Amino acid sequence: MNEITFESVKDFIYNTLIADKPLEEQMKLYQSVADQYQEICDASVYNYPEIVATEFLYFNLPRDSRILDVGAGTGLLERLLYKSGFTNIDALDGCEEMLQKAKESNSNYKNYIIARVVKDEPLPVEQNTYDVALMSGSASPAHIDVDAYPQIIRVVKPGGIIGWIIETEEIFAKVNSKYQNGAYKKSLQRFVLQNLLTPIEGFNPKPVENSLFYNVPAEVYFFKVV
Ligand SMILES: C[S@@+](CC[C@H](N)C(=O)[O-])C[C@H]1O[C@@H](n2cnc3c(N)ncnc32)[C@H](O)[C@@H]1O
Repeated sequence: MNEITFESVKDFIYNTLIADKPLEEQMKLYQSVADQYQEICDASVYNYPEIVATEFLYFNLPRDSRILDVGAGTGLLERLLYKSGFTNIDALDGCEEMLQKAKESNSNYKNYIIARVVKDEPLPVEQNTYDVALMSGSASPAHIDVDAYPQIIRVVKPGGIIGWIIETEEIFAKVNSKYQNGAYKKSLQRFVLQNLLTPIEGFNPKPVENSLFYNVPAEVYFFKVV
């Protein structure tokens, strides 16, 4: 991005970042903005990591729980969780340059895994490895497709939890045809019917305010892995 302002970042996020495109192109886009990522977050008043961390704390899990930060980027979520005492967190991201930024900052990840979360491609992780998987900003349209969630479910232990934040359906249906006519929620319902996930009361989803640009609403989901 040439100039980073409130308006230019708004245009970038809605017309470029979450617009439908092949994953390869999306990874190149993150590669090209990795150096500017923090400035983009600041200009957009990006609150996803704070919201995910706050909502996750509600579960009051043991501080040594094994957590996978899926689409970890530069490590914003991990640094918040670490402040709350969580010390056993791995980073996974398809963009090496974003993870490199996490390594160069004050992150405390135990492991860095460069991998893309895509349908029908198992992650390079043993099944039932983690107690928790979280997505902050990586569940958005043109990021980790809902059809790829079973790959995340596979690496979480039965009884473990998966949580994420995502734009409201009205926002993502506008930018991405895959999310129209309630398709996203129908996919999640399918995972429940297939006995992969169980909804957690209060988070199915939980509406949240002020996720971005001061007043953009979003939704937080938490499911238990069966
Ligand atoms: C908006 S950033 C969020 C980073 C961090 N979690 C945060 O909240 O600041 C999205 C991250 O997800 C990664 N990502 C997007 N789609 C992915 C996929 N299918 N597989 C793996 N990583 C992906 C991107 O490379 C990027 O680092």
